[in-house]
Amino acid sequence: MRVGVLTGGGDCPGLNAVIRAVVRKGVSEYGYEFIGFRDGWKGPLEGLTSPLGIDEVRGILPRGGTILGSSRTNPIKVDGGVDQIKANLASLGVDALIAIGGEDTLGVATKLHDLDVPVVGVPKTIDNDLSATDYTFGFDTAVNIASEAIDRLHTTAESHHRALVVEVMGRHAGWIALHAGISGGANAILIPEVPFDLDEVISWVTSRFESHYAPIIVVAEGALPKDGDLITKDTTLDAFGHVKLSGIGDWLASAIEARTGKEARTSVLGHIQRGGTPTAFDRVLATRFGLQAIDAIHDREFGVMVALRGTDIVRVPLAEGTGILKTVPMSRYEEVRTFFG
Ligand code: F6P
Repeated sequence: MRVGVLTGGGDCPGLNAVIRAVVRKGVSEYGYEFIGFRDGWKGPLEGLTSPLGIDEVRGILPRGGTILGSSRTNPIKVDGGVDQIKANLASLGVDALIAIGGEDTLGVATKLHDLDVPVVGVPKTIDNDLSATDYTFGFDTAVNIASEAIDRLHTTAESHHRALVVEVMGRHAGWIALHAGISGGANAILIPEVPFDLDEVISWVTSRFESHYAPIIVVAEGALPKDGDLITKDTTLDAFGHVKLSGIGDWLASAIEARTGKEARTSVLGHIQRGGTPTAFDRVLATRFGLQAIDAIHDREFGVMVALRGTDIVRVPLAEGTGILKTVPMSRYEEVRTFFG
């Protein structure tokens, strides 16, 4: 059996751990051969490959990014893209594909499976917004990075009696903001799921200053004010039609300055949250996902995605993982409001 492996969408810590687990088990237990596809779906679309064997995966467990490269190429939008992928897989002798990605990459995998391409999915994203899995790897690392940043921002905010706004990633889900905000002791956490009331945010900021501490406001890049629209610096769309988020942090800091007369600054954590070495939790999850993905291939159970349920790794239909965005439930948000202000 010859198995193709690709990583698509935004990179995230733990991708290399999946690749390593897939290859190690596939070679040693099943005697499979592997072929790496470069840069997400661009690889099978354009026949861009790289060798993938035991030698290539040595030492990559703790490395961030992906040795295969990634892109947001959407082959469904390319004229004849699916046929081109099928032809390339056939000419390279690829019997099955493992696609490691988020909503977009696995959405393409779902469509390809419907068109008879044998594919197994592995969910990844720092955003943790894929339904059907309790957690995606990459999320824990992003939360730890953001949480450490918030710890650091507390001390400088207090020294200068400033409000500090921390803008974190997560797209249209507030998971990173919620978890980093809780662990970092933020005075307000603003998430896309609950449009915020600026008057209320100002009252939290004011009461925090009155208690002689400096407020830290964690805002998700997709958060938006009540009765307002998404605030973004860049209005261009990517190949999957997503707007590039970021801008709400600066908007909020300006509003805080204007309304309170206190100095407010913004730290946009951006891609720092995606880079570098994965946490132990993400290495373990990614490794278990990889081992289960190659088992699914061995069982010829295609059109599935591996998923974490409690402490078990299970297989679910690909469509179940990508159909609905997993957002923060209101109850999770309500329980942390105690700490606001
Ligand atoms: O989906 C992961 C993510 O990091 C989002 O949190 C963010 O909105 C987006 O990717 C950024 O994408 P890019 O790296 O293409 O700008």
